[in-house]
Amino acid sequence: MAGNDLVLTGVTKRFGGLVAVDDLSFSVKEGQIYGIIGPNGAGKTTAFNCITGIYRSEEGSVKWRGEEIRGLTPYQIVDRGIVRTFQTIRLFSEMSVAENIMSGRHIKSSQSWWHGIFPTPGSRRDEKENWLRVQEQLEFFDLQDYATTPTGSLSYGMQRRVEMARAMAVEPTLLILDEPAAGLNDKETCELLQTIYKIRDKGVTVLLIEHDMDMVMEMTDYLSVINFGRKIAEGTPAEVQANPAVIEAYLGSEDDDE
Ligand SMILES: Nc1ncnc2c1ncn2[C@@H]1O[C@H](COP(=O)(O)OP(=O)(O)OP(=O)(O)O)[C@@H](O)[C@H]1O
Ligand SMILES: [Mg+2]
Repeated sequence: MAGNDLVLTGVTKRFGGLVAVDDLSFSVKEGQIYGIIGPNGAGKTTAFNCITGIYRSEEGSVKWRGEEIRGLTPYQIVDRGIVRTFQTIRLFSEMSVAENIMSGRHIKSSQSWWHGIFPTPGSRRDEKENWLRVQEQLEFFDLQDYATTPTGSLSYGMQRRVEMARAMAVEPTLLILDEPAAGLNDKETCELLQTIYKIRDKGVTVLLIEHDMDMVMEMTDYLSVINFGRKIAEGTPAEVQANPAVIEAYLGSEDDDE
């Protein structure tokens, strides 16, 4: 049986008086597609920021394959194979698609900065390897025809694809996606679903936040529901859908006027 890849225990993150993430615990197993859902402002992105080292939680622990990663820098966390995309697109819009994907490789690159100034056999080997990986991602995401196109001139849906290609170029073990379907049309959402399955089939564990409920229910193996920073439910999609606390969080209580 697959072990736990990522384990959050009692993670709490405050902004002044606001408890954005409140005693949050959940575990993602190797090979799972794990969903996080919850209303706007529930603390989902903040939880992801605590995992990826953008924020350090005040309390709790974040373990990756048994190692405590709370307190590591974002780069150290990428080094562990944990790579994310953002809720709003963050690409270099004047740069080509291939260059944007390459920028993911450069985060990963083991070469020191002086190798860029004084090319060595090692850095040339790295560059060659980087271009091979970029080529792979262009093919995987069906972006070959746009390799030299400035990213800013592409449709929103395609830019989202480039962003995911850049993350995949880092060769993650855990891919973290913050609302990957946001702003996509039905056809693009369908394609995204297939792409995420393909990524999982490559052996990558996927953790995602998503508002598109149909998509979450169809694709995730397991999910947690967060409201006001706290986990209010977890289970398989069928279990979560039948949970009264979840129905109330999404629809509000219908017995208010009793
Ligand atoms: N840097 C910050 N400083 C202060 N408050 C913040 C900061 N980041 C988030 N918050 C607050 O923390 C709470 C949780 O925000 P978060 O962005 O994590 O929610 P979310 O579940 O991702 O929402 P959405 O679905 O709208 O993306 C919100 O009340 C938000 O205003
Ligand atoms: Mg968010």
